[in-house]
Amino acid sequence: MRRKLAAGNWKMNGTRASLAEIGRIAADHGGAACEIMICPPATLIAAAVTAAGDAPVRIGGQDCHARASGAHTGDIAAAQLADAGASHVILGHSERRADHGESDADVAAKVLAAWSAGLVAVVCLGETEAERDRGETLAVIGRQLAGSVPEGATTANLVVAYEPVWAIGTGRTPTLDQIAEVHDFLRAGLTSRLGPAADGVRLLYGGSVKPSNASEIFAVSNVDGALVGGASLKAEDFGQIIAALSAA
Ligand code: PGA
Repeated sequence: MRRKLAAGNWKMNGTRASLAEIGRIAADHGGAACEIMICPPATLIAAAVTAAGDAPVRIGGQDCHARASGAHTGDIAAAQLADAGASHVILGHSERRADHGESDADVAAKVLAAWSAGLVAVVCLGETEAERDRGETLAVIGRQLAGSVPEGATTANLVVAYEPVWAIGTGRTPTLDQIAEVHDFLRAGLTSRLGPAADGVRLLYGGSVKPSNASEIFAVSNVDGALVGGASLKAEDFGQIIAALSAA
């Protein structure tokens, strides 16, 4: 059985005042049936761990460098995220791929760095709207999966998030059939690489998940949770998504 995962990606949002949202999630949903994770900006990771307290709310980073240390001004090493208390790191988010030109090979190198530091890698992939319109969705997803996930993946060190670029922050989502098609394809792709162990890898859907659409998305085949951006910023909204996942 795969443990469902509700993951929040705060992106470049939040200051110390926002830590109260984590405190509320911890207080209200610490006993949830699903796993909970919040990925705040790096400046807040250590304080977020404190805000979560004893509650089982995981804290993750949003990116790391492929190198363990060195002259890389402004970057953060995976071991530094772990040292601050992070257990996971999002890698290959489409905003990183677009804003920083990250290739699949760059993402794969970061995944290896994350694993070396003992972090779980949450690898993101997804097609653009133009790619979907051209009928290339599964080809793009297959290429990103093959290129972004290096050898060595296990049930314990990998989560994959399908995030159609055109659904992120737009309020638009794929149809449930379209989500199922990609998630079934991802499960099959992981199975051909990892064998039966692929059964344990969580597959998250991300892109405009909200309290109003969470339940129907969580009922889709091979959807094991969500990576939530905007709706993870407020405990009220994220809490409803956590509740929907716990009930799924
Ligand atoms: P969104 O972002 O929920 O605001 O669409 C999702 C993501 O980018 O992870």
